[in-house]
Amino acid sequence: MSAAARWRVRPGGSLAGTLTVPGDKSISHRALMLGAIAEGDTRITGFLNGEDCLSTARALGSLGVRIEWSGDTEVRVRGVGGHGLSAPAAPLDMGNAGTAMRLFTGLLAPQRFDATLIGDASLMRRPMQRVVVPLAMMGAQIRTHDGRPPVEIHGTPHLRAIHYSLPLASAQVKSAVLLAGLAAAGRTRITEPAPSRDHTERMLAAFGVQLEHAGRTVTLEGGQRLRATQVAVPADFSSAAFFIVAACLAARPSLTLTNVGINPTRTGLLSLLRRMGADIRVRPRATAAGAEPVADLEVYQSALRGITVTEAEVPLSIDEFPVFFIAAAAASGETLVRGALELRVKESDRLAVMAEGLGALGVEHQLLPDGLWIRGAEGLNGGTIDSRGDHRIAMAFAVAALRAREPIEILDVANVATSFPGFAATARAAGLGLDAL
Ligand code: S3P
Repeated sequence: MSAAARWRVRPGGSLAGTLTVPGDKSISHRALMLGAIAEGDTRITGFLNGEDCLSTARALGSLGVRIEWSGDTEVRVRGVGGHGLSAPAAPLDMGNAGTAMRLFTGLLAPQRFDATLIGDASLMRRPMQRVVVPLAMMGAQIRTHDGRPPVEIHGTPHLRAIHYSLPLASAQVKSAVLLAGLAAAGRTRITEPAPSRDHTERMLAAFGVQLEHAGRTVTLEGGQRLRATQVAVPADFSSAAFFIVAACLAARPSLTLTNVGINPTRTGLLSLLRRMGADIRVRPRATAAGAEPVADLEVYQSALRGITVTEAEVPLSIDEFPVFFIAAAAASGETLVRGALELRVKESDRLAVMAEGLGALGVEHQLLPDGLWIRGAEGLNGGTIDSRGDHRIAMAFAVAALRAREPIEILDVANVATSFPGFAATARAAGLGLDAL
């Protein structure tokens, strides 16, 4: 990766204008994978040309799928059908992408060949047992190393459907079981403890797969074929989140983000910020039938107040906590987040790394086993933040500079390219004083 190793962000500044962030990461991964096992060619527009989705594209190439680019964000996937993937010659490298590794585990478990999944140092530390457990119940043969990668899959073509009650709200686990269920005999049923993002279910339906929904249970009959389709990927709400919070802190008077995905399983941050006093106006856009909902978001500067976030609210804003904690640090009063244990097993331990960074900026806080307590302050100190290679931590602290008294230097930022290629240039154009060093 050629991206800068660190950023220096000047204190203060303001944001204005209109911008569009890159395509949704979750949806881009899924469009490639479902396009690969569909019959016919799938055209994807608005694709996220970031390192994580490129890992998925490269892995599919190693499985014999042809992927053609007709521009940075326009992709055609030549589907090989449900039985058309072929054995890879070498381990498949998922890079930094947890979604790729977990979804590929479900996709590859029922194949007629073996495959091994590996990743970068961060991904090699992340828990994989959560997908292996239900897949093993279906008859899959998968080996991990103390529950972590490498994931060694011994392809087992005759999986059996199960009814699985997820012990935690995880779209990655749900998706892995759904992908395996497509190739299993019988009806696979999955019940979630709380709603998690439903992009897989929506996209399977767009590819012609019949799914039944009843409360928090989704059911799918094995053996269904996917028909190629067109996928218009909206701008990623999780990337927009950095600019939503930035605009709450320092828009003069407002910042508009266009074509943002507003699937309700993703937009928990809007509810949290509104409860803090944010003025965010959502202007829905028309979309094709079956497509993900999108909107333009107009965000005004507002005085934020601290809030209490409950466990039930966590899954709907799971990836937004790094930047939410920055909003809390700039708010008046106290903010408490509990029931967020999952943040400890993301690209980094996001509770610990955020606590350390907030401490470096002089923010009063308490690190809890499953959350964080923060007392907001008028202004933040400057300082040096080690992002530990976590893209969302790096971008969150760039936003913090809007309220800092001195520059903030952010280390180890190359992985920002996994989810938000061009962040530095977009941030500068919006008004942040960010220099890549
Ligand atoms: C994702 C699901 C979430 C999220 C991740 C992307 C997905 O993970 O944190 O960034 O695309 O399915 P979990 O399923 O582990 O909650």
